[in-house]
Amino acid sequence: MSVLEMTDVRKVYRSGDIDIVALDHATLQVEHGEIVALLGPSGSGKTTLLSIAGGLLTPTEGTVVVNGNDITDHDAKELTGFRRENIGFVFQSVNLVPFLNAEENLLVVDELGGGKGDKAAKARARGLLDELGLGHRAKNMPAQLSGGERQRVAIGRALFNNPKLVLFDEPTSALDTKIGAQVMELIHSEMKARDTAAIIVTHDRRMTEYADRTVEIVDGRLGAAGLQTAAH
Ligand SMILES: Nc1ncnc2c1ncn2[C@@H]1O[C@H](COP(=O)(O)OP(=O)(O)OP(=O)(O)O)[C@@H](O)[C@H]1O
Ligand SMILES: [Mg+2]
Repeated sequence: MSVLEMTDVRKVYRSGDIDIVALDHATLQVEHGEIVALLGPSGSGKTTLLSIAGGLLTPTEGTVVVNGNDITDHDAKELTGFRRENIGFVFQSVNLVPFLNAEENLLVVDELGGGKGDKAAKARARGLLDELGLGHRAKNMPAQLSGGERQRVAIGRALFNNPKLVLFDEPTSALDTKIGAQVMELIHSEMKARDTAAIIVTHDRRMTEYADRTVEIVDGRLGAAGLQTAAH
């Protein structure tokens, strides 16, 4: 069973009197533990595809199956629970909660899931921060962290619930080249160590070297590689 099966997905945005076709006949399959880079220019539909894959946005047409669950017909409430349990998100502009420290930003995930931020959850948050090289920064506020450190906290938050799929939207575009490469290496090693699948959106071809497979998107249409399954 694939982690993600998107089939013939179409997304049309209505903007005033005009329809914008952001995705057309998009078919993409991602296998367990596979890292897929989604490469394309600005406006090509990358964020739209990621949002649909993660249940943040519903497609106009087509089906989306995540971990064997067809989420196409889920209502908003079902989607919220589904996302929390199955998918991790890391965005371009890190949206950490500014008045919570690094550890507390991870514990938010536990609390959203009905947890009480108990000892086990705290240990898990600390363990993840240690693993990401941030153990010594656990009590720091986001404003006291560098861009790369903040992005690492966001990765820890995305991994907190052990998702089988993590969606990254331009995770390094706000970072300089060197720090960006370090963050990509960290993403790669964390995903491989956990056998977690990822889609990493980028418009930077250099970032595709960290992926098992690269899928290109132009004007809402995926290149042929979207149809291939992983060779691993
Ligand atoms: N909410 C919306 N309403 C109307 N049009 C939208 C909306 N969101 C995106 N679009 C349009 O859909 C197309 C695809 O947008 P999308 O954000 O998916 O592109 P992208 O590849 O992520 O671009 P970027 O690299 O700039 O982030 C663009 O033409 C965009 O203007
Ligand atoms: Mg985008």
